[in-house]
Amino acid sequence: MVNAHKIACIPGDGIGIEVIEASIKVLEVMQPLFGFKFEYTDLPWSSAYYKKNGRYMPPDALEILKAHDAIFFGAVGAPDIPDHISLWELLLPIRQGLQLGSNVRPSKIFKGVKPPLANCEVGDLNWLILRENCEGEYCGQGGRSHTGTPYALGTELAVFTRFGIERHMRFAFELARQRPRKMLTLVTKSNAMRHGMVLWDEVFYDVAKDFPDVKWDKMLVDAVTIRMVQKPKSLDVILCTNLHGDILSDLAAALSGSIGIAPSANVDPERKAPGLFEPVHGAAFDIMGKGIANPIATFWSAAEMLRWLGEEKAADGLMSAIEHVLEHGPLTGDLGGKANTEQVTQAIISALKQ
Ligand code: NAI
Ligand code: MG
Repeated sequence: MVNAHKIACIPGDGIGIEVIEASIKVLEVMQPLFGFKFEYTDLPWSSAYYKKNGRYMPPDALEILKAHDAIFFGAVGAPDIPDHISLWELLLPIRQGLQLGSNVRPSKIFKGVKPPLANCEVGDLNWLILRENCEGEYCGQGGRSHTGTPYALGTELAVFTRFGIERHMRFAFELARQRPRKMLTLVTKSNAMRHGMVLWDEVFYDVAKDFPDVKWDKMLVDAVTIRMVQKPKSLDVILCTNLHGDILSDLAAALSGSIGIAPSANVDPERKAPGLFEPVHGAAFDIMGKGIANPIATFWSAAEMLRWLGEEKAADGLMSAIEHVLEHGPLTGDLGGKANTEQVTQAIISALKQ
């Protein structure tokens, strides 16, 4: 019996469309090889859909998504639509509506990728950033007053709940426990931010007691950027808030070679909703339509999706193919190569067939 999984597929905008298309080709080849089946629902929710319908998603979007085992997402954003509209109409309502409370963002230096840090070699940077995914500054609370006057004001309220923090932290500790080094660093800003961030610290001390086998330390977010650059080897699991994780994961991607290889998994640790798997990058207006986007970030996200769905062998197989192509090429421009999306895709397919 072949395991069938229902996948909601949202390519979205810009290079999101290109890298999802490339991934579907790879996944088609993988299904007979690894004995699983993906049944896709193609969802055209995007900026083009918005221009036609006045909204990014239909009103019953969350119900549609809930009928699936996973969501495979490209990117959202268009040059002629304000970014806060595109993000708040498509990706954030899904993350928050499905309560995908943890965003898992691995990054590592692969053989064949030249990292920008002179003091860093393969194996020296192997991190798992655990970004809280529903709260903090991205909760959507705030407002504007006195608009259009010199006294214009805007507030952006950072919201932190014990429930959201604890759910995320327990998951982070569980993942840290499964890694060889069993190490975790809590990142906050509980010196200047004396309410919500201090709550983070308090919940952390409570949760840490249940994981005595995980070694932990804590740092303020500004200091951790120094450590990421100067002592990358000293970090393993990095546990942080929504805003901090957003920023630190782009830094991690750059330090590991390129944003073009950085994957992410948005998951409900309690598995009550389907996970959403997507590259960390956005629609990349500067290269969209050229066919040169690096598809590896989305391939790696697909591997994370397979792992979450219990298809371990397929996930490992895809990761081996990714490692092979990163080491031997061809590579896209962001990694110093000359290949286009299609050439990298075909190289992954050949590696899978070997
Ligand atoms: P971006 O990630 O789209 O691009 C940043 C830079 O990285 C660009 O120079 C781009 O060419 C390069 N890049 C990104 N992915 C690449 C890939 N796969 N291969 C090669 N180069 C790659 O971020 P930016 O420019 O801040 O945002 C553009 C749009 O995307 C905005 O509308 C933004 O709101 C949206 N966005 C959406 C995200 C999502 O859907 N999850 C995440 C980040 C941004
Ligand atoms: Mg980001």
